[in-house]
Amino acid sequence: MPNGFMPNDVPSTIEHRCDLLVIGSGAAGLSLALKMAEQCNVIVLSKSDINEGSTRYAQGGIAAVFDDDDSIESHIQDTLKAGAGICDEKVVRFTAENAKSSMQWLIGKGVPFDQEQDEQGKPRFHLTREGGHSHRRILHAADATGEAVQTTLSESVLEHPNIHLFERYNAIDLIKSENARSKCAGAYVWNRKKERVEIIRSRFITLASGGASKVYQYTSNPDVSSGDGVAMAWRAGCRIANMEFNQFHPTCLFHPDAGNFLISEALRGEGAFLCHKDGNAFMKKFDERGDLAPRDIVARAIDFEMKRLGEDCMYLDISHKPTDFIVKHFPNIYRKCRSLGIDITRQPIPVVPAAHYSCGGVMTDLNARTNLDNVYAIGEVAYTGLHGANRMASNSLLECVVFAHSCAKHILDNFEQAHDTSTILPWDESRVIDSDEAVIIQHNWHELRLFMWDYVGIVRSDKRLARAMRRINLLKQEIDEYYSNFKVSNNMLELRNLVCIAQLIVKCAMQRKESRGLHYNLDYPNLLQNSGPTVIQKD
Ligand code: FAD
Ligand code: SIN
Repeated sequence: MPNGFMPNDVPSTIEHRCDLLVIGSGAAGLSLALKMAEQCNVIVLSKSDINEGSTRYAQGGIAAVFDDDDSIESHIQDTLKAGAGICDEKVVRFTAENAKSSMQWLIGKGVPFDQEQDEQGKPRFHLTREGGHSHRRILHAADATGEAVQTTLSESVLEHPNIHLFERYNAIDLIKSENARSKCAGAYVWNRKKERVEIIRSRFITLASGGASKVYQYTSNPDVSSGDGVAMAWRAGCRIANMEFNQFHPTCLFHPDAGNFLISEALRGEGAFLCHKDGNAFMKKFDERGDLAPRDIVARAIDFEMKRLGEDCMYLDISHKPTDFIVKHFPNIYRKCRSLGIDITRQPIPVVPAAHYSCGGVMTDLNARTNLDNVYAIGEVAYTGLHGANRMASNSLLECVVFAHSCAKHILDNFEQAHDTSTILPWDESRVIDSDEAVIIQHNWHELRLFMWDYVGIVRSDKRLARAMRRINLLKQEIDEYYSNFKVSNNMLELRNLVCIAQLIVKCAMQRKESRGLHYNLDYPNLLQNSGPTVIQKD
């Protein structure tokens, strides 16, 4: 098996060294790098350019209690309710309690959250509202919060002398330590510019590689969200949890030229409602909270109405609000829709659900530690227990920053203990060749994402899951063979990871014999008593 395996006589592989390797340059990875950089030497890996990841596209904002009429207890209760009974309450409490200080850290870094004047004319943060929240508690920068967070953090990172940014590098696999099997010595990485595999040796490794929604045909996520971190962690022996809970955002723009454009839930927070083509609102039929019900309920309602009526999309209407209000609060959405011939101040927006967020991931504790001693996971790649069976809007960016901080503290507290001198085997490419059949990768990419959408989407059944698993097993065999025989490429690495993610999702979905939150199985429509997370680990 050539790739990654070392017989004798293999030329040496370029090796870099650092104290902390951070795999990913979104809100989670950059927050951690900045927290650590005063004390140690950090390498940040980014598969594309520094700013490309889900963080940059976040619209609605970040949840934290800033209003005197709101309370941390209310944030906790809303999160637990949205999570459909299987959040880890201590994690929810920890996150909500640390939310304000984490946001103050971001504000200190220069993130320009929107402000307004209070009744006495004093400035205060403007807070918006989203589904599942019983108060206005979302800090935001108009409707482009992620762009503000991402660019602010990346500017600081680029200026820091102790942070070394490796752009266009894919982490391929974690390298288990020879000395202690519960540790990793570093990672094999693919330098996309030079087209060669290199080694990064590090005392500590943090996965901050984002989500896996690209496993579905239709997604709000950018291309980098291919679940690489979860797949790498799985192969290295980390515990993985709750992969069956894939969040579908109810309202992505439905237009042939829209790409993956999201229509923020904040529109519904400010009064927009979902309706049929003829303008009839329908959400109250499904939930008493109407358009502000949690996402799983809204996405399923849209899916149900589309199938019932045989329509390609539903509509979201905010045109009853004053034009100035719409343009001021949602300038990007207004511009984007306008560029496609949709004037949201006068007409409803065509919308469909799309895969948006992976609630499951690499299992961690409050310090972001996985079950491998020096490997951590933060941000969307992680399963902390915060989201349970359904993530509440705007709790994700919050989790990125809160856990980046607890991860930094834990690494610093244990800094001296981690020292590994094990030999790392060079990468062996002596028996692999350039692929002459890239069409196999292309074909398998499309096939995988399409059957995941059709069989493992918003509504599942045992038969659909079994059908998906049969196809996954075939694809996996083919891709593993391909990986062993041909030189690596970005598409091949991502496909190898996506097929692993698909397998983990279906494995977890098959284990859950109930419908809960984002996982809805026609064969088990009810809730089970005493249910908990689905935890899996490689034999
Ligand atoms: P990301 O920001 O996705 O960054 C992942 C990083 O990992 C990237 O730098 C990528 O290049 C790198 N990477 C991946 N694989 C590899 C590899 N193999 N090797 C090297 N690098 C790798 N959440 C909210 O809380 N509020 C919102 O308003 C909100 N709006 C959203 C809107 C959209 C359109 C989307 C897609 C998501 C939204 N979310 C929102 C969710 C939230 O944005 C994400 O969960 C969060 O940004 C994830 O941050 P992250 O740092 O974990 O990962
Ligand atoms: C949105 O703005 O609707 C996305 C919010 C989120 O995913 O948390």
